[in-house]
Amino acid sequence: MEPKRVYIVTMGCQMNIYDSEQMERILAAMNYRPTAHVQKADLIILNTCSIREKAEHKVYSYLGRLARMKRKRPDLIIGVGGCVAQQQGYRLIERAPHVDMVFGTFAVKRLSGLIRQVTEQKRQVVDVNQTGTVEPSHIAPSDSQAGRATAFVTIMSGCDNFCSYCVVPYVRGREVSREPRGILEEIQQLVAHGVQEVTLLGQNVNSYGLKNGHGFDFPALLEAVNRIPGLKRLRFTTSHPKDLSDKLIGAFAGLETLAPHMHLPVQCGADRILRRMNRGYTRDDYLAGIEKLRKVRPDIAVTSDVIVGFPGEEEIDFEETLRLVESVGFDNLYTFKYSDRPMTPAARFSRKVGEAVKRERLARLLELQTRMTLEKHRSLVGTTQEVLVEGLSKKMDHQITGRTPCNKVVNFSDGAACVGQLVPVKIVEAFPHSLLGGPVKPGRLYSGYRGGILHAA
Ligand code: SAH
Ligand code: SF4
Ligand code: F3S
Repeated sequence: MEPKRVYIVTMGCQMNIYDSEQMERILAAMNYRPTAHVQKADLIILNTCSIREKAEHKVYSYLGRLARMKRKRPDLIIGVGGCVAQQQGYRLIERAPHVDMVFGTFAVKRLSGLIRQVTEQKRQVVDVNQTGTVEPSHIAPSDSQAGRATAFVTIMSGCDNFCSYCVVPYVRGREVSREPRGILEEIQQLVAHGVQEVTLLGQNVNSYGLKNGHGFDFPALLEAVNRIPGLKRLRFTTSHPKDLSDKLIGAFAGLETLAPHMHLPVQCGADRILRRMNRGYTRDDYLAGIEKLRKVRPDIAVTSDVIVGFPGEEEIDFEETLRLVESVGFDNLYTFKYSDRPMTPAARFSRKVGEAVKRERLARLLELQTRMTLEKHRSLVGTTQEVLVEGLSKKMDHQITGRTPCNKVVNFSDGAACVGQLVPVKIVEAFPHSLLGGPVKPGRLYSGYRGGILHAA
C-alpha cells in the first residue's frame, strides 16, 4: 500500500526532539513516512513547547496557518502533542477547532490508537492522561536518525525540582528514571547503525536512578555506557548544580568517551533571587562546583542558562549575575527574559520586572558573553581539534560541519570526510558562534550529502 506522509514540527528542547523521533517510529509501523513538504502531508503533528510564553504563541500562530490548509483539505489530520498539549488539553480544541488530536507528553506511546480513533471514528480526540511508562516502545533508530553521527537518548522523564518559574514539572510530571538495561540496549543499537556520539537526556540527569532504586546512579550509568564498544563520545544534559556530586565530577577524570563539556545552568548570580527561584544552591556553592570540575578536567567547557528579570530582581542582583558570568568565564550562555507560566508559583510573585528593563539587562548580558565567547574561540586559533563530522554546514556553502570535544561548532572543508568520522582540524579563524577550520585536503568542495557520504562537487 502507498505510504502516507507525515510532517512533524518539533518546537521544543532535546526531550521534545526525542519524542518526535519516537512518534516517527510509531508512525513508520502504521505506514507513515516523513515528508519534507508540509503541503504533501496527510498528517501534520506540532510537537509543542511551553517553556516561555513566546513558545506557546508560536503554536497558535502555526495552527492559524494550518486552519486554511484544513479548509481546503478536510482529510488532513492535525495533531498537537508535547508540552502545550499537556498543559491546555481540551482548551486547545476550543481555541483551534480544526485540530483533530491533542496528545500530551505521556501519550506519545498511545499515538497509533489515537490516530485510529480520528480516522475510523471521525472524531476529535484528547489524551492528556498522566499515565504511562518512561520506557520507549520502539528503540530501533528512526528514519531521521539514519546516517547520523549523533543521537539523543532520554534516560529519565519529568522533574521534581519545582523551580518556582518553571512549567516542566507540570507538563512532564514526576521524575522517573528508565531501566539501565533498556538505555544500554538502545545505545548499542544506535552504535550498530553508525552513531558515534550519544547525549543522555533528562531535566536533571544527576539524580538519575536515585528514586527508583535500580542500584544504578548516574555515574554508574556513565561508566556502563562508556564501556559500549564502538561509542566514541558521550555527553549528557542537563545537570542541576545542587546535585553535582564528587562522584560525577570524578567521571570526567576516568571515562575516556566522556566529552569535556558540562552544561550547568546557574539561572542567576544573586543568592536572594536563587532562593526565590527555589534552586537549592548559593552562588558560592555554584562557584565551588566549577572549581572542582576544572581541577579534575582543566580543559572542560562550561555552558549555562541565565534568566534575567525574575520577579523582584533589582539592578544590584543583576550586577551579581554579570560578575558571576565574568568570573566563571562560560564557553557559552543561553539567556532568557523571565516569562510568567501558568501554574507556577513565580507567576503569582509580586514586583514583576518591566519588559524594557528585561530587554536592557538581556542586552548587557549578551554583550558581555559574546565578548567572552569570542575571546575563548580566539584562543583556539592555531590549535588542532578533533572534530566529529556531522554533515554539510547549513550556513556555509560547500563546507562540512562538526563539533570539537568541548562542543564547539567547526566548519571546514575536507576532500574525503564521511559523516561520523573523527578528523583532526586546524582552527584558522574564530567567530562568536563557530570556528573555521583550515582545509584538511585543499581544493575539494561539497555539493551534496547522501547516505552519510559527502560528495565532492
Ligand atoms: N532542566 C533544565 C532546563 C529546563 S528549561 C534545568 O534545570 O536547567 C531550559 C531553560 O529555560 C532553563 O534553564 C531556564 O533558564 C529557562 N526557563 C525555564 N522557565 C523559564 C521561564 N518561565 N522564563 C524564562 N526562562 C525560563
Ligand atoms: Fe524546570 Fe527546575 Fe526542573 Fe529544570 S530543574 S526542568 S528549571 S523545575
Ligand atoms: Fe519545552 Fe517541554 Fe522541553 S516545555 S523545554 S518542550 S520539556
